[in-house]
Amino acid sequence: MRQSVRSLLKKKLAKDPLTWLTCYDYSFASALNLTDLDMILVGDSGGMTVLGYTDTVPVTMEEMLVLTKAVRRGAPDKFIVGDMPKGSYEESNRIAIENAMRFVKEAGCDAIKLEGSGMMIERIAAISATGIPVIGHLGLTPQTSSQFGGYRVVGRTSDEATKLRNDAKLIEESGAFALLLEATPPELAREVSESTSIICMGIGAGRQTDGQLLILHDLLGLYPNFRPKFAKCYVPQVIENFTALLDKESQIIQFGKDTRLDGLYQLAVLAVGKFIDEVQSKNFPTEEFTY
Ligand code: KIV
Repeated sequence: MRQSVRSLLKKKLAKDPLTWLTCYDYSFASALNLTDLDMILVGDSGGMTVLGYTDTVPVTMEEMLVLTKAVRRGAPDKFIVGDMPKGSYEESNRIAIENAMRFVKEAGCDAIKLEGSGMMIERIAAISATGIPVIGHLGLTPQTSSQFGGYRVVGRTSDEATKLRNDAKLIEESGAFALLLEATPPELAREVSESTSIICMGIGAGRQTDGQLLILHDLLGLYPNFRPKFAKCYVPQVIENFTALLDKESQIIQFGKDTRLDGLYQLAVLAVGKFIDEVQSKNFPTEEFTY
């Protein structure tokens, strides 16, 4: 079932943890489409994982649209969030609306996400006012991380924590339906999740948010350059199930000969299934994967 803003908000109210993964291409999107995952983020992290940039700064709107359209073709049943790349929303409300509209009209997105606070609150309000669902992004914001001392946990000092609490409130008031907290101390993330009416997702923000986001390439152990502390690779936990599945002759016929889903595709479906189980049972992230 394709989620909607309404059904996602209902899950928050029911305290039913939400699951969210990044994806950047057709084949993995079609694997995700087979699972119970709630949302897909076509993140500008794709600039690093599939385009090979060293960070997300160079990613363009045109590149994001190519990736997002491919994901939509692969995952027609999923709620897809387009990630606005650096330079596509900062300058004015008009430019922000124009680019958000491209994600919806050209790539079939259900929502967009943008990073930051300050002037970005106005952008969130302007895009939301057009009827496009918006997700804010606080804590570590990779597009501007060099201003704040690189990739690090944000919210450990009392000044940072106060600013994050205030920014979360402003994002809620600006009309966003959700907020992503990245690399945020777990206690602070819990407090923000409990005190806002919008959905509060976390990546590297502990277990007590309304749901969890992971980078698909981290979950599958596919990105060679670095893996942050919170990024759990799920392949080791499902590898036995994977080989057991393929050992059964009937399964080889079903998954291998006819549909050719006997390799990485099938492994991805199992690994994502395990992630979903662990998030739903609140077993991810454990201490090992928490700042
Ligand atoms: O681009 C992305 O995948 C993101 C995550 C790092 C949160 O924004």
